[in-house]
Amino acid sequence: MSVLDTLIESSPTVSVGLLTADLMNLGSELEQLEQAPVDFLHFDVMDGCFTPMMTVGPPYVKGVKTRLFKDVHLMVQEPLEKVGAYVAAGADIVTIHAESCVHVHRVLQYLGQLENVTDPSRGLVRGIALNPGTPLSVLEPLLDELEMVTLVAINPGWGGQSFLESTFDRLAEVRQMIEQSGRTIALCVDGGITRDNIARMAGAGVDLVVTGSAVFDGKAPLANANYMLKALRAE
Ligand code: DX5
Ligand code: ZN
Repeated sequence: MSVLDTLIESSPTVSVGLLTADLMNLGSELEQLEQAPVDFLHFDVMDGCFTPMMTVGPPYVKGVKTRLFKDVHLMVQEPLEKVGAYVAAGADIVTIHAESCVHVHRVLQYLGQLENVTDPSRGLVRGIALNPGTPLSVLEPLLDELEMVTLVAINPGWGGQSFLESTFDRLAEVRQMIEQSGRTIALCVDGGITRDNIARMAGAGVDLVVTGSAVFDGKAPLANANYMLKALRAE
């Protein structure tokens, strides 16, 4: 099944962010996580320019061996020359920021020509992420060239920040834009999701919820992931 179909069929679901995972125990933390009914693993790629901090690059994305789909969130400037390396590293979802370059449309077109290296039949999901201060109107001309929209609910750079309430109005507006487009486009929210607010995301029409520090809290990733999924699905 394609990545997009899996995402839509399992909606609402979570993509677990690796940013706060224990690097000294990454293998065992991932083994635990894979026991939960989670399908997506979220890699936060920061370049020290678009965001103050630097994190990881293509070798890290490739080096993480997992059954989970690799959801790569690129917080990097000028992604055109860089996206290919992430696809080659096994990315299933590649999200770029609308604010990251002048020719965002061209980057999406280029991504549309690439194949999923793990299995071409999976396809690639092309995502656009928007910072909290970016007007939603930038999405309109891009909707024909993407499969996912991510609203970032914090100013990106670090895990564990507080969710901005203004994101709810933005989610509602993007949900409407997606319905009007007539295309299959997933809606994702990223940043500041906690045990206390995750249940509200389903009501906001979100398909994919990124959860980082609420799962990788240094203690119990499996129990945390199960909790987050159940709360999201109101089970
Ligand atoms: C922010 C990243 C997010 C975030 C998620 O710069 O894009 O993925 O760190 O982490 P939590 O869930 O801890 O906010
Ligand atoms: Zn992210």
